[in-house]
Amino acid sequence: MASKRKTVGELRSQRWFSGPGAVGPHKHRRIKQGGYSLEDFKDKPVIAILSTWSDFQTCHAHFPQRIEDIKRGIWQAGGFPAVIPVQSVSESFLRPTSMLYRNLLAMEAEEAIRAHPVDGAVLLGGCDKTGPGLVMAAASANVPAIFVPAGAMLKGRWRQHTLGTGSSTWAAEADYRAGKIDQREWMQMSEASARSTGTCNTMGTASTMALLIDVLGLSLPSASTIPAVDAEHGRMASDAGRRIVEMVWEDLKPSDIVTPAALKNAVVADMAISGSTNSLIHLIAMARRFGHELSLDSFAAASELVPVICNLMPAGQYLMEDLHFAGGLMAVLDVIRARLDLSCRTVNGRTLGENMEGARVFDADVIRGLDNPVYASGALVVLEGSLAPRGAVLKRSAADPKLLDHVGSAVVFRDHHDLIARIDDPDLQATADSVLVLQEAGPIGAPGMPEWGMLPIPKKLLEAGVRDMVRISDARMSGTSYGTCVLHVCPESHVGGPLALVRDGDLIRLDAAARRLDLLVDDAEMAARRRVWTAPPAHYERGYGAMFSAHVLQADEGCDFDYLARPGVNPEPEIH
Ligand code: FES
Repeated sequence: MASKRKTVGELRSQRWFSGPGAVGPHKHRRIKQGGYSLEDFKDKPVIAILSTWSDFQTCHAHFPQRIEDIKRGIWQAGGFPAVIPVQSVSESFLRPTSMLYRNLLAMEAEEAIRAHPVDGAVLLGGCDKTGPGLVMAAASANVPAIFVPAGAMLKGRWRQHTLGTGSSTWAAEADYRAGKIDQREWMQMSEASARSTGTCNTMGTASTMALLIDVLGLSLPSASTIPAVDAEHGRMASDAGRRIVEMVWEDLKPSDIVTPAALKNAVVADMAISGSTNSLIHLIAMARRFGHELSLDSFAAASELVPVICNLMPAGQYLMEDLHFAGGLMAVLDVIRARLDLSCRTVNGRTLGENMEGARVFDADVIRGLDNPVYASGALVVLEGSLAPRGAVLKRSAADPKLLDHVGSAVVFRDHHDLIARIDDPDLQATADSVLVLQEAGPIGAPGMPEWGMLPIPKKLLEAGVRDMVRISDARMSGTSYGTCVLHVCPESHVGGPLALVRDGDLIRLDAAARRLDLLVDDAEMAARRRVWTAPPAHYERGYGAMFSAHVLQADEGCDFDYLARPGVNPEPEIH
């Protein structure tokens, strides 16, 4: 907990700027080389703006302006802003998958803070992995930090339809594959669904993580729902710039804010908003960086505590812009306030409960009451069983209820290539009752655990009107996706989890109510299969990929690197 105000001599940056002998003058000289005068930076907190902008990161195309907005606030509050570009981790362009690079961003951003004369940091991110990556970095660096979310893009519009990024695109693609719309219409709908810069406007991973980081208290209250291109977003950014300077003087650090109680609040809120399944992996990884354990059981318990009250796609109808004007995050939290610890501290120095004062729901169809939920309870189900000894996840609220208690025979795809090659084969032995199984799609196997978990429905079944089937994999799924998709099966098949031993025709039982996922094959047969199983070859012999494969943890542990997820000495740099 922060107590007295820092003095200038206690600023971390003073180790550089008031260093012994010629060190201080040398650093002054080099700052002046950038065109700054002594008055610009002397005795001021240095605030890093960690920017995840790049031309490939189109969700962050407004960041150059937001950087100016943040700088304005920092200057006004008496700080010295310094932009540090870090991995932009573009969801749309990074391949094989952006998840491969979340940890690289986290590591880079942590070291960028540690190695520079930085007293506090503004974390500028939003597109899926950037929020968690930056928070993981801030947790480990533990200097005062405030997250400025990118904000969601505007609502998509096409003809008379409102379109949500991702969810509407997937639906349009299914309609095209089923022959219900032509290619031109499909393309028009896809383009119309992403109408401005900003993050995906459904309750995808970006929206989910922005909201949860807000719940944790790491961004200004309700910053997470402000649309990216709204003038309010620029004002929020400059507010954050002003506030971070004060946070430095107050020495209010991320570890003062992200406590076990704050994390529990985030888990509960995750259920109420029907957050992306990716949030489990990211919240676990973030918690472990703060030295707190968060297990899959915490999510399972929270899932029974609160109903889904946010009526946003893909589980509902509306989009982030609607949520903002319906009252924003604080109004959502107000509805579930009995389940929250309101004493948790936040970046503005007030408690969560104080930030919720005056919160009001302006549209009761977007933010539902507890007596009129979108989904009664259990938005996410954490499954266990012989097919997933260390857990798996199902977004029940985005699944066909008829499939939540289902026994079907497996149609197995040994990897993504096999899936793409055979899924639309007219001779594929699949019916609407089959269970589609994808192997080799986990953290090491894929590699990087791509969002392949919403396996496509075979074309012949689409044409027959089938729109959902039970699908099982060790992959993730986009938060904008939907369907009865069992994800994050752990341990993954690449390391010999039972998923690796499933064969065509095996019976699989999904019982969401009992939280079970079982492969109905007897022990003797499983032992025989295990004896002949051999690990697939490694993807990488060198480079970052080899490091990733050697050190990434499994989904139930947050997929961080083993050497980053643990506490330990990491000394401040010697200044010379
Ligand atoms: Fe960037 Fe969805 S692609 S948030």
